[in-house]
Amino acid sequence: MRCSLSVVLAVGAGLVAAAPHAHESRETHLRTRNIIDSTTIAGSYDFVIVGGGLAGLVLGARLSEDANHTVLVLEAGGNGDEYRERIDTPAYAYYESLWPTELNWAFTTTPQPNANNSVCPWPRGKVLGGSSAINGMYLNRPGEIEVNAWQDMLGDMDGAENWSWESMYAAMKKSETFSPPVDSSIQQEAAITYNPASHGSQGPIHMSYPGFTLPLVGAWSSAAINAGVDNTQDAYGGENWGAYVATSAINPANWTRSYSRSGYLDPLPPRRNYGVVANAQVTRILFNNTSGGNLTAYAVEYALNGGDAKLTVGVNKEVILAAGTVGSPTVLLYSGVGPKDVLDAAGVEVLSDLPGVGQHLQDHISVTVTWSSDAETAGTIYNDNSSEKNDPAFLSYVNSATAYVNSSLLFGNGVSGLQSNILGEIDQYIPNTSSDTGVISGYKAIYGTTANTILTSPIGLIELVIGLSTDGAIQIGANLQHPFSHGQISINSSNPLDYPVINPNYLNHPADVEILREGVKLARRLGETEPLASAMIKETWPGSDVQTDQEWEDWLRGEVFTEFHPSSTCAMLPLEQGGVVDANLRVYGLSNVRVADASVPPMSFSAHLMSSTYGLAEQASTIIRGFYNQPPPSTKHHNSTTNSTSSSNGRSSGNGNGTAILNTTNVPPTINDTSSTSTNSNAASSLNCWPLLMTVAFLYLTSRLLL
Ligand SMILES: Cc1cc2nc3c(=O)[nH]c(=O)nc-3n(C[C@H](O)[C@H](O)[C@H](O)COP(=O)(O)OP(=O)(O)OC[C@H]3O[C@@H](n4cnc5c(N)ncnc54)[C@H](O)[C@@H]3O)c2cc1C
Ligand SMILES: *[C@@H]1O[C@H](CO)[C@@H](O)[C@H](O)[C@H]1NC(C)=O
Ligand SMILES: *[C@@H]1O[C@H](CO)[C@@H](O)[C@H](O)[C@H]1NC(C)=O
Ligand SMILES: *[C@@H]1O[C@H](CO)[C@@H](O)[C@H](O)[C@H]1NC(C)=O
Ligand SMILES: *[C@@H]1O[C@H](CO)[C@@H](O)[C@H](O)[C@H]1NC(C)=O
Ligand SMILES: *[C@@H]1O[C@H](CO)[C@@H](O)[C@H](O)[C@H]1NC(C)=O
Ligand SMILES: *[C@@H]1O[C@H](CO)[C@@H](O)[C@H](O)[C@H]1NC(C)=O
Ligand SMILES: *[C@@H]1O[C@H](CO)[C@@H](O)[C@H](O)[C@H]1NC(C)=O
Ligand SMILES: *[C@@H]1O[C@H](CO)[C@@H](O)[C@H](O)[C@H]1NC(C)=O
Ligand SMILES: *[C@@H]1O[C@H](CO)[C@@H](O)[C@H](O)[C@H]1NC(C)=O
Ligand SMILES: *[C@@H]1O[C@H](CO)[C@@H](O)[C@H](O)[C@H]1NC(C)=O
Ligand SMILES: *[C@@H]1O[C@H](CO)[C@@H](O)[C@H](O)[C@H]1NC(C)=O
Ligand SMILES: *[C@@H]1O[C@H](CO)[C@@H](O)[C@H](O)[C@H]1NC(C)=O
Repeated sequence: MRCSLSVVLAVGAGLVAAAPHAHESRETHLRTRNIIDSTTIAGSYDFVIVGGGLAGLVLGARLSEDANHTVLVLEAGGNGDEYRERIDTPAYAYYESLWPTELNWAFTTTPQPNANNSVCPWPRGKVLGGSSAINGMYLNRPGEIEVNAWQDMLGDMDGAENWSWESMYAAMKKSETFSPPVDSSIQQEAAITYNPASHGSQGPIHMSYPGFTLPLVGAWSSAAINAGVDNTQDAYGGENWGAYVATSAINPANWTRSYSRSGYLDPLPPRRNYGVVANAQVTRILFNNTSGGNLTAYAVEYALNGGDAKLTVGVNKEVILAAGTVGSPTVLLYSGVGPKDVLDAAGVEVLSDLPGVGQHLQDHISVTVTWSSDAETAGTIYNDNSSEKNDPAFLSYVNSATAYVNSSLLFGNGVSGLQSNILGEIDQYIPNTSSDTGVISGYKAIYGTTANTILTSPIGLIELVIGLSTDGAIQIGANLQHPFSHGQISINSSNPLDYPVINPNYLNHPADVEILREGVKLARRLGETEPLASAMIKETWPGSDVQTDQEWEDWLRGEVFTEFHPSSTCAMLPLEQGGVVDANLRVYGLSNVRVADASVPPMSFSAHLMSSTYGLAEQASTIIRGFYNQPPPSTKHHNSTTNSTSSSNGRSSGNGNGTAILNTTNVPPTINDTSSTSTNSNAASSLNCWPLLMTVAFLYLTSRLLL
């Protein structure tokens, strides 16, 4: 479903504040328990976590379970409370999109030469919960082959075993609570299949299915079979291919979005060893030299409320970057850790020359075929203004029917020719973003793994999705999953409040064009296959003018759009391959800085990225706690027998230990202000892109799916 017309109308209507709820004051109190005011930040913490997004709030919750450790999360965005109804209501992801609000960083790419010089919008969440607060809620997994391929790229690095499928599968499950469809009529109508054994049952994030569906959702699986795409009964146990209805990150108890804030922050008891601060943008990590040559972080510098004044907070043990695929490399670069050529050109002093920072950027590209239709879609019902429009079950409908298709479906007998072409071209399309031999060898390692291990496997090279949230139209999108084109995040300024430069290098490699072309041809074929075909009146985009391979290729170069799944800019790879972190997530050359977010897996996955990122953050938490010799928390999550000082709310904490024993070593509430200027905010830097965003929203939202 597209973000569509209705989103544009929402933009035009301006920002809609959340309606007050009956239990507001109690709710507000409960929701803000570990969210502290910036004036109460202590002088130092054991762990300072940069970014309170999807991964950051997992790490904050898990590390603070150990009452011996003090933990601070600094989040650039706000707490999101003014937007709560829009965040919580699943279908508002389409009808009341948060894109045109301050909750979106609203990045854009550089002009993309192989994509008709497009400057593509790159939304990213800027709020507690990060992108998990503004995204499309598809919750599915990468496959066993892909995750094991990641582990294999690590060779015999210490800790490599922790990134096997077996480890990651357990970690992903640990984050989840699965609920089957609420009633059998929904299951039948949508043709939902599932295997509870492949899902977690006690984790903080709810994974389920909407409380409303449509016959067209069920038509998806049948049309797929008729078009030669097998259905899968269970895409969650490692064989993540075929057509199916994915779970969504929705809590079926009240049809709300389940995201890192609702799962990992709101249910926690108060913990005196844990503080989460919103509106605090980290600008730099500050380092000392140590004898061994590693740099040691001693403090984190940040700016409050979009102001210019810099404050610092001390670091006793570690800094953990969880600022996402854009934010984490950006903070390293502004801190003087990164490729020398980038830092020199930006005027940032090189403290540690680490050529891989920001490299190996991979993103899923999406293109969409659209038909006019008079069939009933969720968008039709919403636009009808009937009473159903405000029914919470109806408002839980989000698109989730998907199909992952492999190379033999796309290319038939042509696969081996494609593979040998790709292997023969390994030196030809190396990204021109780095001349470092290590970075290039990392590119080749990822490329080789993709070409040798993924390309001819059953893993999907293309994901197909159907969009049913527009009135009068149906979309089928084709999304490239394993790009051979890699890009880069860099900076061109020494002011850490300036936005980074994002160059995904879209369609730099011709194989990406061919694969996407075959994918979008299959998308059209699916729309022309019964039972979907009879719902379509006419293909309106690109329409019958586009028929030959050449016509498809010309068309798709002008259509590329992000599927919102950028990854790999702080890649876990050997240092000699342009790696940024080792298998224990530690940044090379730094003794006490780790990265734990979507920037870490070195290779794109054939999946939406939430589940793997939750799993990675859970795994990171266990590794870090193990490093400090703390036993991992119990995996029993619904035990409220903790010694929390306010377990009177009767909720399960969603986590293991409460706050039975508190270490209050460093609680004095002092501001550590190293700047002479006042901390009052000037113009919020985050709002600088606002006019551009408005334009971008109008231009693009009319023709895109939200994924
Ligand atoms: C529009 C959209 C739709 C998507 N749809 C889906 C989907 O349907 N299913 C799915 O699985 N995935 C989806 N994704 C992707 C998924 O949300 C992300 O992959 C995931 O959230 C990544 O987690 P993260 O922790 O790495 O980064 P994020 O969740 O983005 O968190 C990073 C956090 O760090 C903060 N930050 C950044 N820089 C700084 C700084 N300097 N100082 C302090 N804080 C900072 C940010 O404000 C943000 O809160 C979507 C993403 C978007 C944007
Ligand atoms: C916390 O630290 C104290 C003092 O070092 C130690 O005795 C105790 O075992 C620690 N608690 C845990 C859970 O590790
Ligand atoms: C990581 O791997 C080591 C060695 O196999 C193992 O002992 C440890 O339990 C693993 N940690 C996690 C969190 O899986
Ligand atoms: C939804 O229900 C969960 C409990 O399952 C609760 O924690 C949460 O606060 C509820 N959300 C809203 C918005 O009521
Ligand atoms: C690190 O550098 C800071 C700032 O120069 C200084 O205050 C601190 O004492 C140093 N710490 C160590 C361990 O050298
Ligand atoms: C670390 O030491 C080296 C060599 O003495 C020096 O050039 C560099 O500036 C120091 N870095 C920091 C962050 O102090
Ligand atoms: C601020 O932090 C620095 C670095 O940790 C520390 O040296 C200094 O004492 C702190 N100042 C205050 C007032 O806490
Ligand atoms: C390419 O971009 C130009 C300028 O924006 C535009 O006029 C043209 O239609 C685009 N071509 C395609 C194929 O999208
Ligand atoms: C540097 O720090 C890393 C951890 O990031 C550690 O493994 C390594 O041994 C350290 N090297 C030196 C020389 O101290
Ligand atoms: C909850 O934890 C307590 C203390 O660890 C334990 O005695 C009790 O059996 C647990 N209850 C459940 C339901 O797991
Ligand atoms: C919580 O941890 C403390 C030590 O940090 C321990 O003494 C206490 O028994 C734990 N409580 C539960 C419920 O596990
Ligand atoms: C809770 O705290 C009390 C007193 O501090 C202690 O006796 C009891 O064992 C604790 N219970 C748990 C489950 O940790
Ligand atoms: C409290 O935590 C600090 C920092 O981790 C540690 O040095 C200290 O030993 C702890 N104190 C107690 C009583 O556990």
